[in-house]
Amino acid sequence: MTTIIDGKQVAASVIDAVKSAVVGLEKDTSLKPGLAVVIVGDDPASHAYVSSKSRMAKECGFNSVQHTLPEETTQEELARLVATLNDDAGIHGILVQLPLPKHLDSEPIIQSIRPEKDVDGLHVVNAGKVATGDLDGGLVSCTPAGAMVFVRRIHGDDLSGMNAVVIGRSNLFGKPMSALLLAANATVTTAHSRTLDLPSVCRNADILVAAVGRPEMVKADWVKPGATVIDVGINRVPAPDKGEGKSRLVGDVAFEECAKVAGAITPVPGGVGPMTIAMLMANTVIAACRKAGRTPPKF
Ligand code: GUN
Repeated sequence: MTTIIDGKQVAASVIDAVKSAVVGLEKDTSLKPGLAVVIVGDDPASHAYVSSKSRMAKECGFNSVQHTLPEETTQEELARLVATLNDDAGIHGILVQLPLPKHLDSEPIIQSIRPEKDVDGLHVVNAGKVATGDLDGGLVSCTPAGAMVFVRRIHGDDLSGMNAVVIGRSNLFGKPMSALLLAANATVTTAHSRTLDLPSVCRNADILVAAVGRPEMVKADWVKPGATVIDVGINRVPAPDKGEGKSRLVGDVAFEECAKVAGAITPVPGGVGPMTIAMLMANTVIAACRKAGRTPPKF
């Protein structure tokens, strides 16, 4: 029987753990985690993401602050806001929603966030800690951290003897995901668009993670029988069967056919997606615990 990994359910259990940690932290130290989310411009998809992040932060009992800046905000204005949030003792996590409008350069903005407040895990200090296997000292970026929660729930903390293949080598996902699997003792291959004979590389994987942005690219005959398949892709494709002009979301994995071969698999939507926000909340409470000198919870 294939396990269909329920991302909403796992995310809800992470959120419950965040809420308990918030209650404990406030009781012992009177400190309430503070999360500042910054959005620039009018992109509707980004506004939808940011609203759900702010809403979830409130639900977790955080001090949730949203800064909505106009499209014409300058680099200097945005940098000043980040500097103010860096110095604000009540703010433990800062997230600048990406992408920024074209006239703004996101890299210096992200790198100006204090690493201990970088709950997105995008600062080079945090990326470097993940790359060197220091998983307890920094903040791990939310999507790979969420994918690892699934892997741990299925295989436990120690992946010794297991082969893991990550398709995709982005700084945002593929590289940190490979580093996290390696830190858990898996034997890791990071595959990408230049990899020779990708299907046979994938067939070697006990854990197969796809993050390429190509709808339903991974087919059933790429999957080792019984493997765990984690689909990080979110692709909108036309769905004429639902009516003219309609679309639907699919992952990078051909779900129906791969589910027949895999031991466990994530659906899209409802797999990795809900975990990203949950891990943002987890990172914020971790950052607040560290600020208070308390040992942060593990997720
Ligand atoms: N835009 C889409 N996803 C993300 C995310 O996880 N973090 C940030 N900062 N921007 C995003």
